[in-house]
Amino acid sequence: MMTAVLFGGPSPEHDISILTGLQAAHALLRTERSVVGIYWSKTGEFYRVPPTLEAPAFAHGVPAEAEPLMLIVGGRSGFGSLSSGLRPKLEMLAISVVVNCCHGGPGEDGSIQATMDLAGLRYTGPSAATAAIGMDKLSFAALAAAAGVPVLPRVAGDGAIPFEGPYIVKPRFGGSSIGIEVVRDQATLRDRIRSSVHLRSGAVVEPFRDDLYDLQIAIRSYPELTLSAIERPTRTAGAAAILTYSDKYQPGTGMASAPRELPALLKPETEEQLRQIAERTATLIQARGVTRIDFLANDAGELFLNEANTIPGSLSHYLFLEPKQTLAEQLASDIREAMERPTY
Ligand code: DAL
Ligand code: MG
Repeated sequence: MMTAVLFGGPSPEHDISILTGLQAAHALLRTERSVVGIYWSKTGEFYRVPPTLEAPAFAHGVPAEAEPLMLIVGGRSGFGSLSSGLRPKLEMLAISVVVNCCHGGPGEDGSIQATMDLAGLRYTGPSAATAAIGMDKLSFAALAAAAGVPVLPRVAGDGAIPFEGPYIVKPRFGGSSIGIEVVRDQATLRDRIRSSVHLRSGAVVEPFRDDLYDLQIAIRSYPELTLSAIERPTRTAGAAAILTYSDKYQPGTGMASAPRELPALLKPETEEQLRQIAERTATLIQARGVTRIDFLANDAGELFLNEANTIPGSLSHYLFLEPKQTLAEQLASDIREAMERPTY
């Protein structure tokens, strides 16, 4: 059984995905599986890479060890390997399952999932529909609100803004805090939406509330819905008003960087409410694999659902304190789930 670990991708979260992908590949190698790395470059090409590579091999883009791959969609043939030379010869890679470690962009928005569905490839993590809902901050909030889940008002950046500033503006289809800004007034807001490269393909706007802090929980869908401990990541002291990219990742590791409370010390009623909403959300979006669900809360007991990350960094395995599973055990379970679900 050959397991392919897919990572990278044409996404602003490309570098974090390399770290998640290599963590997964290294963990799988320790389980004696036959593992192949599939690196998806920033410009969209696929390469076969040794799963033993370390992150520095990707520091200058495509590693020297990479061999070009072609993704064949027709005929359920899966990923094929294209050898170089004047008369390219197709060599098929007999892949049993793809462990999808892509963050953001077409690796987490349903595009690669739909492609793999058409190619007859099994893959871990969200389906095309779940990934698409999770990646669209506007649709996700609308769906949650329609289901009666508490969310902050969230509107499209190109429409009317029916609340007072200050505002927080985020890429509609982004992740990892990239491109998020806090602005005081509507004039600045409009200016940022026009000029920021991160907001060009869509922006969402919410009221910015400095009383709110982040809480996160992960949920596993298989073999039954299992919730992790709740984590409270904290921000760099005295710095940004939001959790930044560097709060989220330690340089070079992709792991949580800033101090965090795990498990978070919460009032029992807040904890209970958060767990109920997380479970409701996972069911609502038909989450599969591991999903990290992010909340905003304050000391007055308010709690808002913020977003669902359908392929979270480090696959959020470290949040499951009890029963503790290694990343390899978690991946084995994600793979079993992928093998059991029906394909087209
Ligand atoms: N989008 C990043 C990787 C996360 O949610 O963890
Ligand atoms: Mg996110």
